[in-house]
Amino acid sequence: MTRHLMKDSEKWLFLDNTLEKKNIPFHIPLVTGSESEHVNAAIRNKYLGAGGDFTKKCSSFLEDFTGCKKVIMTTSCTDALEMAAILADIKEGDEVIMASFNFVSAANAFVMRGAKICFVDIDQMNMNIDAKLIEAAISPRTKVIVAMHYSGVPCEMDTIMGLAEKYNLLVVEDAAHCIGAFYKDRHLGSIGHLGAISFHETKNIQCGEGGALMINDERLIQRALIIRDKGTNRSDFNKGIVKKYTWVDIGSSFGLSELNAAFLFGQLLQIQERNQFRIDLCKQYKAFFSDFKKHEIPEDPGNGHIFYVKFDSVEKRDRMIDHLKTFHIEAVSHYEPLHQSVAGKKYGYFSGEDNFTTKCSKTLLRLPLHQDINNEDILYIFQRFMQVYEM
Ligand SMILES: Cc1ncc(COP(=O)(O)O)c(C=O)c1O
Repeated sequence: MTRHLMKDSEKWLFLDNTLEKKNIPFHIPLVTGSESEHVNAAIRNKYLGAGGDFTKKCSSFLEDFTGCKKVIMTTSCTDALEMAAILADIKEGDEVIMASFNFVSAANAFVMRGAKICFVDIDQMNMNIDAKLIEAAISPRTKVIVAMHYSGVPCEMDTIMGLAEKYNLLVVEDAAHCIGAFYKDRHLGSIGHLGAISFHETKNIQCGEGGALMINDERLIQRALIIRDKGTNRSDFNKGIVKKYTWVDIGSSFGLSELNAAFLFGQLLQIQERNQFRIDLCKQYKAFFSDFKKHEIPEDPGNGHIFYVKFDSVEKRDRMIDHLKTFHIEAVSHYEPLHQSVAGKKYGYFSGEDNFTTKCSKTLLRLPLHQDINNEDILYIFQRFMQVYEM
């Protein structure tokens, strides 16, 4: 039996290599127990398309909870971002500013409408776009700023909204991670002109595939309903305002199915407890990793969506992934910098210096975080981690 002795800030920990190996997946989708009852109710209601009772309940819940003027349930956050790009009236040659440390969906949504993406560096303390660098990236062609709030930790929204006003730009919040997360008491996604949330199975609250478009600028609501309904005025028809619905604008099939909305509804009612559980897990991770430098672990847990550790090289990060794998602990990296990807080079450019985007994305490692792990599992992960970690 090999025993490693190491120091935690509080106590000495004994690492016993003969301990039984646990199986700790990176993620397990949340299931609360309410899902089948609600899905069965939707089946009994005999209305399964978009816009049924559960869809309406989800929208109004989110409007009350987030303070957003209008929430449209969508098939994904990607689709909500695509709706946002249509609503932004992007034309060939317009530019959209966003962080390169990002998921592909926002970039794709705007590129599909003809925009060029102007990538800006991140703040390594929270992995969000560095708001101080945005003004230098604004050109006469800039139309939109995308604020992606990483792990529910807010971007500097006062600065971003100030720039939007000064240069007459639209702000789209990519709030994919952000259910139950706030900036100065305002729910993320409800501050910019438009916001997009994800209910993908990897998120804190989920329905397999799902999302929501948050519309804070009332002038955009009517058109958003048309875009959601394949470019038709079907929602006016449903309200009895017109006798027949017809094709009036561009659009697509963006509405969430009633089955997914039914699955989601019970989870929405538990947002606060479910987020708190994850935030507590993040705090436990943070307590174990307290000897790490400030920028190497999240300072603020946000809504508990992600806990990461940053290394000083990609080799060390990748070695850790392999080491943890031998103990059946699944840890993953993301996002590859968009400006270095094949499509990123074709459709975008980097403004200013890449001081942190590449460095952080190559060295960041996400550790398991879901409702089926507990503090003991986190200790187990931490101990295995420290076996090979080189300070
Ligand atoms: C920042 C960000 N935006 C958008 C998305 C896309 O979300 P969805 O899978 O609901 O389309 C994701 C997915 O994880 C994401 O991380």
